[in-house]
Amino acid sequence: MQALDTQVKIAVVGAGAMGSGIAQVAAQAGHEVFLFDQSLEAVEKGKAGIAKQLQRRVDKGKLQQADADAVVKRILPASQLSELASAGLVIEAIVENLEIKQKVFGELEDICGEEVILATNTSSLSVTALGSTLKRPERLVGMHFFNPAPIMALVEVILGLATDQKIAEQIHATAAAWGKKPVYATSTPGFIVNRVARPFYAESLRLMQEQVAEPQTLDALLREAGNFRMGPFELTDLIGHDVNYAVTCSVFDAYYGDFRFQPSLIQKALVDAGRLGRKAGQGFYSYAEGAERPQP
Ligand code: NAI
Repeated sequence: MQALDTQVKIAVVGAGAMGSGIAQVAAQAGHEVFLFDQSLEAVEKGKAGIAKQLQRRVDKGKLQQADADAVVKRILPASQLSELASAGLVIEAIVENLEIKQKVFGELEDICGEEVILATNTSSLSVTALGSTLKRPERLVGMHFFNPAPIMALVEVILGLATDQKIAEQIHATAAAWGKKPVYATSTPGFIVNRVARPFYAESLRLMQEQVAEPQTLDALLREAGNFRMGPFELTDLIGHDVNYAVTCSVFDAYYGDFRFQPSLIQKALVDAGRLGRKAGQGFYSYAEGAERPQP
């Protein structure tokens, strides 16, 4: 199956950490990309983040200024969902909530032509359930990028019960054309990576709760001695505790309360306090403006 032609416009709904990253990946591959969020301000913030990220690469001599400018120019801010009508693929990257995502897909179904592929970047929700409220659930597929999307190679291509195999193949080929390493997964809670990763976070949080060691010690140990690229506390600070907690709750519920996936009260407290990690300037670590490195 052929990848989508670069003439095909892509739309990304949600301009947060993942949506902007995905928009950047698609624009770097040569597509024009509509970027939509609840407010134009959020879209502009997402686009500015992309420009900043690319500029850093220009400054390091890894990218030509003209190429960076061309990528930024291909990102088209949208203030209405209806502006996405001419896209051939819409990728949803909004809040990890089944009902809210279903509502947005319902609206997209009314706006987009029959041939348009709808994809979700959900970390854990059932693609089958997300598609269940659609008139044509066969065109909904999971296209799950990892954070940060421009850097992480893996993309899980997730088939719900109704997903058309040919559409999944086209998304697989498109992810590969975008320089990613796609892998198929069926729609099970947490798919592959987020299922395997749950105990990594949960066990680390239990070690902290039992005062075995501080987050910075555990992070350093797993990074330096365990060869993990990031420790569990700095990684969940990057992911965002609201997102990571919602994913754990969703996987826990979907496995009928299996203890292995039990959410942590420590993480819930961070969410309740608004200490969502890097994006909020505070999580397990503090990311105060001007600080050279995160402070425990
Ligand atoms: P985020 O909180 O950074 O961004 C979400 C964005 O969606 C916000 O800008 C918000 O204003 C917007 N939004 C919420 N409801 C909306 C609606 N009804 N219409 C339009 N925009 C809306 O969240 P993040 O981290 O980008 O996550 C987005 C999705 O990607 C979630 O499903 C999450 O599970 C998934 N994901 C997250 C990863 C991570 O490491 N943060 C990794 C892979 C997937």
